Amino acid sequence: MQHLVDTNQFSIPQIEQIMADAKSFKANRAPLLLRDKVLITLFFETSTRTRSSFEIAAKRLGAATVHLDPTKSSTQKGESLEDTFTNLCAMEPDGVIIRHSENETPQILADMQITSVINAGAGNYAHPTQSLLDYFTMLEYFGGSVEGKTLAIVGDIVSSRVASSGIRLFTRMGMKVILIAPQQFMPESDLPQFEELDDVMDEVDVIMSLRAQLERHDIPHFDDYEDYAKHYCIDAKRMGDRDILLLHPGPVMRNIDISDEMLDDPRCRVLEQVKNGVYVRMAILKILLLDV
Ligand code: CP
Repeated sequence: MQHLVDTNQFSIPQIEQIMADAKSFKANRAPLLLRDKVLITLFFETSTRTRSSFEIAAKRLGAATVHLDPTKSSTQKGESLEDTFTNLCAMEPDGVIIRHSENETPQILADMQITSVINAGAGNYAHPTQSLLDYFTMLEYFGGSVEGKTLAIVGDIVSSRVASSGIRLFTRMGMKVILIAPQQFMPESDLPQFEELDDVMDEVDVIMSLRAQLERHDIPHFDDYEDYAKHYCIDAKRMGDRDILLLHPGPVMRNIDISDEMLDDPRCRVLEQVKNGVYVRMAILKILLLDV
């Protein structure tokens, strides 16, 4: 039984296999490799992209999906997470795709060894499928290799599971990662850190912009996000004519994270990330459920 808690569970050859499979699924109609499989999506936090992407990926490979909405489940009657999970597993799904606010939840459920557990985002610790689709999008943009490229992660890095998973994956795959954020949003890290984005614009190949995750802040960090945007918003003036790939996991706070104009710029691949997410998740489901 294979789980996905974070990308470090995949060997480099497995990551290369996922990238190759995703490329093939993007180029050609995929065979129904997961016909007869049933997956449950269990999202304790909101999602637009990840849940839909997993459900479409499963369907494209012939698997059925069932969604349990925790706000309408017996969680509301006090049933514990573990009991909810074991009851769902009693119906013999082939996997449970879970999003949860606690960093440890996917690992706890995986350790129960009842069904394959796939992390769709946990706390500020890990969002492995987002990192793999980001990696795929970068490989596609740079013609198959990102080794030695410099990626700047910009924004609320300390709150971000996209950043923490990404840092682990991208450095492992040979990229240089630098962190750009005001002190309130900067995590403890050995990576190079900068407060001013404009100081590094000439050094970067990729910018990954991140949303300020207001829902995770105990206290408001800024009274005025327009002032924050003056330093960190990726706009046409800041980008100039540099050949920088611009990514964002979504949802984008328009004109705070990225300007309207830059969202329409061909260097911005935010919707391509969403498109690629389906193919990468198809490849991930294939490797986890079929072990090939
Ligand atoms: N990127 C991402 O995780 O988006 P959702 O929260 O909409 O799933």
